[in-house]
Amino acid sequence: MGFDKKQVLCAMLYALAGMGLGIYMASSHNHGQHVTHAHILLVGFITSMVYGVVYKLWLPAAKPVLAWVQFIAHQAGVLAMCSGLFLLYGGFVPPPALEPLLGFAAIAVLLGAATMCFMVFSTRNDWS
Ligand code: HEM
Ligand code: HEM
Repeated sequence: MGFDKKQVLCAMLYALAGMGLGIYMASSHNHGQHVTHAHILLVGFITSMVYGVVYKLWLPAAKPVLAWVQFIAHQAGVLAMCSGLFLLYGGFVPPPALEPLLGFAAIAVLLGAATMCFMVFSTRNDWS
């Protein structure tokens, strides 16, 4: 399976999770998880989908090592970020205990973006 499809499949799972949480918030009239909801949908769904489209359109011959680093960094980061935010905003775990997880998540998501940035800038094609 290509990295385009891997990212799109992950994106769609985050769409379901984020919308599910949105429907829960709307129906319970408890919007306490809106930050979690926003990151599941914007970092998990939308950003993964954009990465999938970039792989499909402009990086069909991405170097496998770089693409694996990009994929694992972004997806591990999103999973850690969304789990950490859910535990934080649900009040399940005290904030100081979540700092290492959320710190890791932020760095991993940033690494995913930086690797994608490197691949895009270093790819020589005609961008047609
Ligand atoms: C089933 C679909 C959805 C439902 C039921 C839903 C529900 C909600 C609810 C109840 C809130 C909290 C509003 C507030 O307290 O201010 C919210 C906030 C938010 N939603 Fe959704 N949502 C849905 C889909 C989406 C999608 C697809 C996206 C983006 C791709 C999205 C992005 C956001 C963002 C960014 C916020 C935070 C806004 C803010 O307070 O700063 N939502 N949503
Ligand atoms: C390294 C990655 C990221 C970190 C560390 C981060 C951190 C944060 C923090 C600390 C807040 C404020 C939460 C609060 O009000 O209590 C926030 C809000 C927000 N972030 Fe992020 N963020 C990251 C990536 C992103 C990305 C990539 C997007 C969009 C694609 C995004 C969209 C948003 C939105 C829409 C809000 C407002 C949410 C709301 O008020 O409901 N974030 N983020």
